[in-house]
Amino acid sequence: MNKEALNGLFRPKGVAVIGASNKAGKIGYSVVEALKNGKYEGDIFPINPKEPEIQGLKAYTSVLELKGKIDLAVVTVPAHLVLGALEQCGEAGVKGVSVITSGFGEVGDHETENKLVETCRKYGMRLLGPNIIGSLSNSDKLNASFAPVLPLPGNGALISQSGALLIALDAGTYLRGVGFDKLFSLGNMADVDFADIIEWLEDDPATRCTALYIEGLKDGRRFMEVCKNSKKPVIALKSGVSAHGAAAAASHTGSLAGAAKVYGSAFEQAGVIQATDLDNLFDVTQAFELQPPMEGDNLVIVTNGGGVGVLATDSAEKFGVPLQFLPKEMQEEMKHYMPEFGSAKNPVDITGGAGLEGYKKCIAFGLQHEWTDGMAVLYCETAVTNPQEIAEGIYGAIEEAGEEILAHKPITVSFVGGERCATAMRWLSDHGIPAYDDPARAISAIAALRQYARLQAAKAADSADTFEVDREKALSIINAARADGRDALTEVEAKQVFKAYGLDATTTLLARTEDEAVELAHQAGYPVVMKIVSPDILHKSDAGGVKVNVKDDDMVREWFRKIMENAKNYKADANIHGIAIQEMAPLGTEIILGSINDAAFGPTVMFGLGGIFVEVLKDVTFRVAPVSKAQGMKMQEEIRAAKILAGARGEAPRDREAMAETIAKYSQMIWDLRDEVKESDANPVMLYEQGKGLKVVDARIILKKK
Ligand code: COA
Repeated sequence: MNKEALNGLFRPKGVAVIGASNKAGKIGYSVVEALKNGKYEGDIFPINPKEPEIQGLKAYTSVLELKGKIDLAVVTVPAHLVLGALEQCGEAGVKGVSVITSGFGEVGDHETENKLVETCRKYGMRLLGPNIIGSLSNSDKLNASFAPVLPLPGNGALISQSGALLIALDAGTYLRGVGFDKLFSLGNMADVDFADIIEWLEDDPATRCTALYIEGLKDGRRFMEVCKNSKKPVIALKSGVSAHGAAAAASHTGSLAGAAKVYGSAFEQAGVIQATDLDNLFDVTQAFELQPPMEGDNLVIVTNGGGVGVLATDSAEKFGVPLQFLPKEMQEEMKHYMPEFGSAKNPVDITGGAGLEGYKKCIAFGLQHEWTDGMAVLYCETAVTNPQEIAEGIYGAIEEAGEEILAHKPITVSFVGGERCATAMRWLSDHGIPAYDDPARAISAIAALRQYARLQAAKAADSADTFEVDREKALSIINAARADGRDALTEVEAKQVFKAYGLDATTTLLARTEDEAVELAHQAGYPVVMKIVSPDILHKSDAGGVKVNVKDDDMVREWFRKIMENAKNYKADANIHGIAIQEMAPLGTEIILGSINDAAFGPTVMFGLGGIFVEVLKDVTFRVAPVSKAQGMKMQEEIRAAKILAGARGEAPRDREAMAETIAKYSQMIWDLRDEVKESDANPVMLYEQGKGLKVVDARIILKKK
């Protein structure tokens, strides 16, 4: 990262607007106006070839007149003039350019866009955009955009790939009461992307967390790396998760939106919290702006209404922080603060009869108790209570806990009611307590704070496993297939590659003659499976090319002839390598392991149960490769059919340790061979009961075209 150039881009000492205008309604007018209205304290230099003065400021014909005085140039001239403008910026010593102009990569003109990047690189400048609204910062009093106002002040940053959405969200900060210090529009991300800004924000004292609106990443690996190392929470909303949505995003930004599940997994691996929609993005960001992560699972809910209490309990389970009953002695103490008919179990229901005192005492006691890791306070507007008084009482009780406790126990609040509740909640948010009008929102926000702490712990505990592998052997098999003019390995070859990576594939030997088949069947051990090996016959069973449970020499001879005949009948000119003689693996739980080369993240491993689970239920999970054994264990826990692996209905648990190791080794294989392998799978893998391992029964490797 060229930090100095990014400082110039985002914290400039002087700003030029190239294409500044006196004509209201033009973008070049709005940017100058926004800089002025934002009270930018550095110099503003409007650049215009004809006008001596723009909106009361002295104008210049070119940045070349201002050498060394400009850190940031905001560009608002038509597309065909941008390259020339950047060239002049470079000569004038500008550090960063923010190109608002549209009409480059997003409409297919990648050539000009690349030239913009080259020009910036030549001069050591960083480029934001093109096709953006600009960037905004409250703490720098910098509105270098054509959004009319700086956002409501707050502690977060928001980075959006869509410019129009960013303007809308900027205005929305006032309505929602969720503030931001900085907003960034990324547009085509020709140079500066999410990772650059997240990295730059690490040292920004004005921001505590970063929210992202992502359509598609170009370099997913770098994004993951930066997020993994970030000490500040990152919350991402990924759009384009539906098949149709992905197509819309691709045409919108010119970038490829990858498979939704891959993004979800990558976020989790990198410790990024995934928001579900815009409301959730704001809710969760507000929680991170105002509250610490939740370090343990013990959530206490305090409520004056049974209904909202039950709703919150349901949400707690849904969002991954299921409620536990309070320890007995906590319950005993809490009972003193509520009427007889209240409940101290959790949710702590002080009932409508307890009033402000009940809230205060339960909150103060609950927060200070060592059992508690976080708290959600719910309130239903009643005839006998005043929401503002309740809000102030809640705040006072929270404050009583003291800084030390509040630094690691988060609190969210939900008031359900009318206008008075809305006002009281705004007061709470202004005092650092995130408040929401629905208990589900308060719980999902605190659950995100818990999720973050869990992901941080998982990251810290995860370490890469190393295995002994024979990469050279794998490459020699691949190279031999290429020399043969093929980009698909035969099953025999694929299994050799798998074995070179320590994967337990069934012994599969290639017989070219009947006699050889008998000899190899003895090597493999009866019973054996016989399969046609031909790069021209992919669907072996359809071609009558497979025979299982071959028990003796006579059967081997008989089926050698039959399979050869079937294959020739199926495809007369098929190139037949021979017949594979394969040890017959006992039946087990059928697993599918697969790999794809994701457009954003590269080699990615998929795990799921075979058969109906993958075909009908699409019950699979992904990880960006390579992954550790620990991640391999987690993958087995997160599919819906996890219980089958754990041993459902009296069956013995499956050998999940062996499966985890196989996932890790397989992921290592696809990562190591990423320049060669386009996609691969092990389908099925027979997984046996604990202690008995597994067998890769069929393997497939498709090579990248070279
Ligand atoms: N240096 C500086 N200023 C120059 C110039 C140069 N070499 N050449 C021309 N200009 C001036 C023009 O004279 C004009 O000023 P004026 O109003 O005083 O005449 C100003 O730059 C703007 O040029 P103009 O030709 O009027 O363009 P425009 O304002 O109609 O459109 C864009 C320019 C950049 C706004 C337009 O091309 C565009 O890309 N719009 C979409 C932007 C967008 O929406 N981005 C965000 C997507 S989310």
